[in-house]
Amino acid sequence: MMRLDKFLVATHTATRSEAKKMIKRGRVFINDKKATSSDIKIDENQDIVTLDGNIINYSRYEYIMFNKPAGVVSATKDNTCKTVMDIINSPNRNLFPVGRLDKDTEGLMLITDDGALAHNLLAPGKHVDKTYFVRVEGVVTFATADAFAKGVIIDEDYLTKPARLEIINSDDISEVRVTIHEGRFHQIKKMFLSQNMKVIYLKRLSMKNLILDENLEIGCFRKLTQSEIDNLKC
Ligand code: URA
Repeated sequence: MMRLDKFLVATHTATRSEAKKMIKRGRVFINDKKATSSDIKIDENQDIVTLDGNIINYSRYEYIMFNKPAGVVSATKDNTCKTVMDIINSPNRNLFPVGRLDKDTEGLMLITDDGALAHNLLAPGKHVDKTYFVRVEGVVTFATADAFAKGVIIDEDYLTKPARLEIINSDDISEVRVTIHEGRFHQIKKMFLSQNMKVIYLKRLSMKNLILDENLEIGCFRKLTQSEIDNLKC
């Protein structure tokens, strides 16, 4: 059992003072009944709490999907550039981005305070599939796909793990989807460079079974749904 205002804070829905205001304004319902005071005790595992009609799921951790724009660094702090955490601007100081994207890369970033999940997605040997949309200068052919499937040499002597390359358009500028199962620094760019091609646009589309929401505009973020969280954990 937990006080309603504490529940709203624990779920990162509001600060304590915002929670009190939300309740006072009649925006919070418990099991379809308007909440009348902040100190009502609720059962966080049983009661259905809504804010403006949206169910608030009780979870110890926070999970955010961010559509990263170019020009933003995926660090928690940076002295010169805007970071993803500056944009998320959450009072939850434990949040961090899971993995890195280059400053000029766009697309899916998962932000959480769940260290165990991040470890399961990133630890060496546990790396999950990550799919990117890539625009490159150069004609991508089935030979390129074959090379990626066998592994290419980057960083002087590192043989990349088998990667899947699907050709969308092949011309002087080609568009492809590439799925990799590891995450070395500048990996996709270096893989194309090994084939004498230059990446001119890169966007992450998915990570494990989490797919970038196509309705999430660039620079915007939203909480993961319960089923997205459950799928990421399995
Ligand atoms: N590969 C890259 O080269 N850059 C990224 O940001 C992600 C993967």
